[in-house]
Amino acid sequence: MAKQSDSQHGSELVEKGRGASVKRVLVTGGGGYIGAVLVRQLLDQGYAVRVLDALYWGKKPLADVLDRIELIQGDIRDVEDSWIAGVDGVVHLAGLSNDPTAEYDPQANWEMNALGTERVAMVAKRVGVRRFTFGSSCSVYDGLPNGQVYTEEAPVNPKGAYAEGKLYAEARLRELADDNFSPVILRQATVYGFSPRMRYDLVVNTFVKDAMQAGKLQIHGDGLIRRPLVDVADVAQAHIACLEAPEDAVRGETFNVVQKNYQVKELAQLAAGALKTESYEVDLRFVPAPPRVRDYECSNDKLTSVVGYTPQRTVPMAIAYMISWIRSNGYMAFDNPRFYNIRWMELLKEQGRVPAMPAQTVAQARL
Ligand SMILES: NC(=O)c1ccc[n+]([C@@H]2O[C@H](COP(=O)([O-])OP(=O)(O)OC[C@H]3O[C@@H](n4cnc5c(N)ncnc54)[C@H](O)[C@@H]3O)[C@@H](O)[C@H]2O)c1
Repeated sequence: MAKQSDSQHGSELVEKGRGASVKRVLVTGGGGYIGAVLVRQLLDQGYAVRVLDALYWGKKPLADVLDRIELIQGDIRDVEDSWIAGVDGVVHLAGLSNDPTAEYDPQANWEMNALGTERVAMVAKRVGVRRFTFGSSCSVYDGLPNGQVYTEEAPVNPKGAYAEGKLYAEARLRELADDNFSPVILRQATVYGFSPRMRYDLVVNTFVKDAMQAGKLQIHGDGLIRRPLVDVADVAQAHIACLEAPEDAVRGETFNVVQKNYQVKELAQLAAGALKTESYEVDLRFVPAPPRVRDYECSNDKLTSVVGYTPQRTVPMAIAYMISWIRSNGYMAFDNPRFYNIRWMELLKEQGRVPAMPAQTVAQARL
């Protein structure tokens, strides 16, 4: 995919930034669910922002900030030095972002999430960017016995394509860490909350959608499995906190980003209470669980003690905020495939918009 600079201002805008203490940040995947929130938080906090994104969901998630950012429409698998040069930090979020899309196209997943991450980091290091954060996933804990709260030291050995790709990328980033390059790995819990690039395929957001659309909440299986969760704005802030943390404290380190671990049944009851406060009565229904259901808990303690950042936004807070935004901003076409990554990916593939790269190109991509 060719580079296409969309900004009128380009690097000029980046230079203006915050004046004397300019901080320039490139967000890969900045048009996505987490990225669209992060970009606004960075702008609000005075950073100059460049976005690199294939724009699988179009420009709409960034519509109201397009004149304040530099936008490069491009594929991380083709990343060029000039796309990254000139920033002080990279937040790398681009790629396939859940199990179903990775299983649907394991080759694209490997090219983007494993090799693509490695390539973005190598280019960043080569062009002199010192700070780098990576949106990995707590799904790397998948397969460990339940009943324990896992730390970053846990002996992970996940089996799915998505988690395997994340783990490969994590290992390459740690190898690249040195005095000139400080990559930080953030193992993000399952995210909830409103984003201008809304997803209804994440458990809390699905509860809200089901309640608003059909007055019911579906609990998969017996509801006893446990999952770590975190608000989208807190994930975004965790990346910013790691970009700002002393390099010696975070270089090559891995941090979980978790607000709380929830049993799914408890989560559904909490969501039902929050929805009732917003005038949505719901029936709780148990339905058969899909074949692969993750069940694990993990801890945010290291992020709190080393970086000083603890996610604060709870599920009820996020639900109230989400409902007001969904109602007032036209996110109620709940069946639109654009709100579900796997359904959107299937459509993009049909249109040939998620091309797999020839093997030779992948090899070259490793530099
Ligand atoms: N949302 C979650 O619950 C969650 C949890 C843990 C980890 N993560 C990780 O966080 C990151 C962001 O997740 P999200 O929920 O915002 O996902 P998302 O799918 O909404 O956003 C991903 C963005 O990356 C872009 N993109 C995809 N492939 C690309 C490529 N090859 N080149 C350039 N751009 C590309 C897409 O256009 C999209 O804008 C992902 O890496 C995901 O694996 C997400």
